[in-house]
Amino acid sequence: MAKNSILPIRPAVADDAAGIQAIMAYYILETNCNWRYKVMDQNETRQWLAQHMVRDVHKVWVATDQEKIVAYGCLSDFRAPEAYQVCAEDSVYVLPDYKGLGIGNRLLEQLIKQAAEHGLKTLVAAINADNTSSVRFHERHGFVKSGLLRRVGFKYGQCLDLLLMTLDLQNSQPQAERDDA
Ligand SMILES: CC(C)(COP(=O)(O)OP(=O)(O)OC[C@H]1O[C@@H](n2cnc3c(N)ncnc32)[C@H](O)[C@@H]1OP(=O)(O)O)[C@@H](O)C(=O)NCCC(=O)NCCS
Repeated sequence: MAKNSILPIRPAVADDAAGIQAIMAYYILETNCNWRYKVMDQNETRQWLAQHMVRDVHKVWVATDQEKIVAYGCLSDFRAPEAYQVCAEDSVYVLPDYKGLGIGNRLLEQLIKQAAEHGLKTLVAAINADNTSSVRFHERHGFVKSGLLRRVGFKYGQCLDLLLMTLDLQNSQPQAERDDA
């Protein structure tokens, strides 16, 4: 895939569940980016997608190459109690062969726009602290480091630290825009 190719992004539909599941499976089984141990089966992924489609603010977006789903991004509840409804947690996952093409940027921009349109105040990124590319990725979009929870995860024989990053949707400016100023 050429660096300057622009692949389309669009809202996910129910039939995208298998493609999304394949991306989730890769990141769950092969990496510590996603802290699940077990992959959701297709039925569970369909339910996950259907639940996201109930609330417009949680709409899932996918990037496609021809018909293939190569990335997805969405917002989810950060925590369940009602007071947290002014924030959401973002997830963006791009298949390895499609990294570095700007897909992640476009998905996250879309999620930030969606969050702002729904009146959210803050976005949260909960990141494996070792995942420097994700940290850099979020910084580029104006997220700042907001807290480090040490040794709260364990996967593949290793303790994991969780870095919380936040984006103030009312008062922040993406780093890319600051760089241009
Ligand atoms: C992080 C991720 C979503 C970025 O998506 P991407 O499509 O590869 O990224 P883009 O090409 O849009 O680049 C976006 C920015 O991310 C940063 N970035 C991406 N990959 C990077 C890397 N390997 N090292 C450092 N920074 C990196 C850069 O700052 C880049 O900014 P630029 O456009 O100014 O160069 C993608 O690499 C991924 O899926 N990673 C694994 C899963 C994950 O960690 N997801 C985040 C958890 S929510």
